[in-house]
Amino acid sequence: MAKRIDVSGLTAYYGAHKAIEDISMTVEPRSVTAFIGPSGCGKSTFLRTLNRMHEVTPGGRVEGKVLLDDEDLYGSDVDPVGVRRTVGMVFQRPNPFPTMSIFDNVAAGLRLNGSYKKNQLTDIVEKSLRSANLWNEVKDRLNKPGSGLSGGQQQRLCIARAIAVEPEVLLMDEPCSALDPISTLAIEDLISELKERFTIVIVTHNMQQAARVSDRTAFFNLAAVGQPGRLVEIDETERIFANPSVQATEDYISGRFG
Ligand SMILES: Nc1ncnc2c1ncn2[C@@H]1O[C@H](COP(=O)(O)OP(=O)(O)O)[C@@H](O)[C@H]1O
Ligand SMILES: [Mg+2]
Repeated sequence: MAKRIDVSGLTAYYGAHKAIEDISMTVEPRSVTAFIGPSGCGKSTFLRTLNRMHEVTPGGRVEGKVLLDDEDLYGSDVDPVGVRRTVGMVFQRPNPFPTMSIFDNVAAGLRLNGSYKKNQLTDIVEKSLRSANLWNEVKDRLNKPGSGLSGGQQQRLCIARAIAVEPEVLLMDEPCSALDPISTLAIEDLISELKERFTIVIVTHNMQQAARVSDRTAFFNLAAVGQPGRLVEIDETERIFANPSVQATEDYISGRFG
């Protein structure tokens, strides 16, 4: 069976600086994969290579391969804009378009693509907001600015915006780190629901969160400061937390790390 994502030998640079080196892993469809590891080990960089956002940074380039459903995302005939539609992203700080209404925020990606029938837009916006567990809180204020929502609501709005264009994969870079504990649990519940339809990769610095939401966990580390980040191991989440194969993983998850 085709893996949803199949990465081999991926190395990423910022100019001359090699941020991550020789990463290989696969991701199954309709699963949640968590990336954990110390700050600066390249989790965000690696995540952004999975939808070709890394190359938007000046000097950003990659070597190696990323296959999505067997298609090479870095193939010479591949449109990076299309890749970012198929592989959506949710960021650490909720970033709704501040001057746009709640409705227009969710519709923004669809309008950009033109990939909908005019009379479907209202339905797709409602469906996306429902899927993001936000509909009941905003249905009476769809024309109010998205920036008027609480942080947790804004993050769910960003998730609604990301899923409105029906991506295959959703990348989330510490999506709860700016949120209070109750909003965090709401997002975690949402992730568990969304994995029925999407393949999710989440970076988190919160070990309990990785244990709660993910099926598989990847531990990244730096051999030394200034060295590129590497994938130490990836395995079933239960195994990573109960009985990891590598000592460095155990040291990190048990808080013995540096
Ligand atoms: N925009 C950038 N320009 C140059 N170097 C960067 C940039 N972003 C990250 N880096 C470097 O890449 C490495 C990995 O960073 P990052 O992917 O942000 O790690 P993490 O998300 O695990 O904290 C670090 O050495 C960091 O300094
Ligand atoms: Mg990061």
